[in-house]
Amino acid sequence: MQSLFTILFVFWVASCCSFRKILTATNTTTFNVIDYGAVGDGLTDDSQAFLKAWKDMCEATQSTPTLEVPLEKTFMLKPLSFNGPCNSPTIHFQLEGNVVAPKNTDAWEGQSKDKWIVFINTDGLIIDGGGQIDGQGSVWWDACKGKLDIALSLHNCSNLQLSGLHHLNSGRNHISLSDCTNTSISSISIVAPEDSPNTDGIDICRSTNILIQDSNIGTGDDCIAMNDGTSYINITGVSCGPGHGISVGSLGEDGAEETVEQVIVHDCSFSGTQNGLRIKTWQGGSGYVRNISYDQITFANTYNPIIIDQFYVDRGRQLYVDEGNQASAVEISNITYRDVNGTSASETAITLNCSMEIGCNDIIMHTINIISSTPGAYINTSCNNAHGKVTSVLPSVSCLDVSGSAEVPSSPPVEVPSVTPLEVPSISPSDENEFYF
Ligand SMILES: *[C@@H]1O[C@H](CO)[C@@H](O)[C@H](O)[C@H]1NC(C)=O
Ligand SMILES: *[C@@H]1O[C@H](CO)[C@@H](O)[C@H](O)[C@H]1NC(C)=O
Ligand SMILES: *[C@@H]1O[C@H](CO)[C@@H](O)[C@H](O)[C@H]1NC(C)=O
Ligand SMILES: *[C@@H]1O[C@H](CO)[C@@H](O)[C@H](O)[C@H]1NC(C)=O
Ligand SMILES: *[C@@H]1O[C@H](CO)[C@@H](O)[C@H](O)[C@H]1NC(C)=O
Ligand SMILES: *[C@@H]1O[C@H](CO)[C@@H](O)[C@H](O)[C@H]1NC(C)=O
Ligand SMILES: *[C@@H]1O[C@H](CO)[C@@H](O)[C@H](O)[C@H]1NC(C)=O
Ligand SMILES: *[C@@H]1O[C@H](CO)[C@@H](O)[C@H](O)[C@H]1NC(C)=O
Ligand SMILES: *[C@@H]1O[C@H](CO)[C@@H](O)[C@H](O)[C@H]1NC(C)=O
Repeated sequence: MQSLFTILFVFWVASCCSFRKILTATNTTTFNVIDYGAVGDGLTDDSQAFLKAWKDMCEATQSTPTLEVPLEKTFMLKPLSFNGPCNSPTIHFQLEGNVVAPKNTDAWEGQSKDKWIVFINTDGLIIDGGGQIDGQGSVWWDACKGKLDIALSLHNCSNLQLSGLHHLNSGRNHISLSDCTNTSISSISIVAPEDSPNTDGIDICRSTNILIQDSNIGTGDDCIAMNDGTSYINITGVSCGPGHGISVGSLGEDGAEETVEQVIVHDCSFSGTQNGLRIKTWQGGSGYVRNISYDQITFANTYNPIIIDQFYVDRGRQLYVDEGNQASAVEISNITYRDVNGTSASETAITLNCSMEIGCNDIIMHTINIISSTPGAYINTSCNNAHGKVTSVLPSVSCLDVSGSAEVPSSPPVEVPSVTPLEVPSISPSDENEFYF
């Protein structure tokens, strides 16, 4: 009798479990972190629940399985990595609620302190939902020097779409893209205090075919930084400030050979930034920065609206010393600026400081009108070893050596292949620039 009961009980348990298993495998396309034990009180460590939900979503075979992070809750996550590849060609991380980093650095005990949330080896990942990612950066800004964490690290991704989230107070870079292709970032905001250290908005390296559009970025450091191995980057409709502007580089540090090419920066604005459009390379490096096009740009009270610096030196570093400026340099060529307006907070609105050996070639400027942010005050331009062509530019760039070879001003903009947005099915209910890979 008792054994019969046991058999029935075992059968009941087994059927119950297999039923649940079938449900998960065949019906459920939504994996809500609450169902995996996440608490969402902002204090409990919810990392394991997120990782389990990710694992099930990643193994799901339905089209677009969704990991759901519900509204009106705040989940504390320790440093963690969401790993692909996943089974479905499209996967959806729907962040409606908030995630926050631990309030102290002990959570990173025993592991590298350079990252917080990592997505790695994903194809067709969609991250959206309108939620917030809070890096609790003040913990890091106050505590220590050295390597702090990147809030959101996207590594080896293809066909990724990140949109609509709010990113704040990262320990270091807010978003880093490395080894990614066909990726779009749109309609996001990134905010950190103006005096927070090294909190770049978006850093890109070794990536191609990237679209960044319609976003507001104000972090005190680079708004967007393009580093080694980036090409076919389209930055459209981005507002920057406060911070250090949209940067290419720095490239060529410690003699490195590094490249950036095929970049378009279109319809962007800079408000109260240290720099606007900046290209910075170290002396002694090699490689190139070429085919960069900036158009429809506005500046409000920007300290260095346009700057190319082939003698970049980071704080605390020594300028490479050479006899008579004979050092190698990262080549800078075919850089076009057109339809640029606004105000400069410094007397020198345009700085082209290029090396004697390599110089900057095919710098094309036209229809530029920058005035001082102090009404009526004088502003000027500074050039060393820059060659190119100028049409209707104020302040006048008489220092640009127009005798050098130059593109015709009407050259077409850089071609950047478009990143096609993926379909996101609606779900109910509710629904300094270093990389370490
Ligand atoms: C699972 O999906 C099947 C087929 O679409 C449907 O008939 C069934 O009602 C679903 N079961 C649940 C529990 O949603
Ligand atoms: C990059 O991610 C893809 C999955 O999207 C994977 O197949 C590939 O092996 C990964 N590459 C490396 C170098 O890990
Ligand atoms: C990038 O997108 C293009 C066009 O949508 C597609 O042909 C190509 O295969 C994609 N590349 C990768 C690595 O997914
Ligand atoms: C600039 O890009 C064009 C194609 O858009 C290419 O033909 C040309 O070689 C590139 N120039 C340089 C210097 O890379
Ligand atoms: C710059 O100013 C000119 C003249 O007012 C205007 O035609 C042009 O649209 C402005 N461009 C931008 C990007 O604001
Ligand atoms: C150009 O760079 C050199 C080397 O750093 C520096 O001494 C010089 O002041 C710079 N010139 C301008 C105009 O910024
Ligand atoms: C630009 O103006 C500033 C301030 O008047 C002056 O110090 C500097 O020498 C000028 N630079 C050039 C290249 O004329
Ligand atoms: C400069 O870039 C344009 C595309 O923006 C390209 O058509 C042209 O070939 C490039 N010029 C040189 C000298 O590479
Ligand atoms: C850059 O992206 C914007 C927004 O998708 C698009 O309108 C524009 O055509 C793209 N530019 C290039 C050169 O691909």
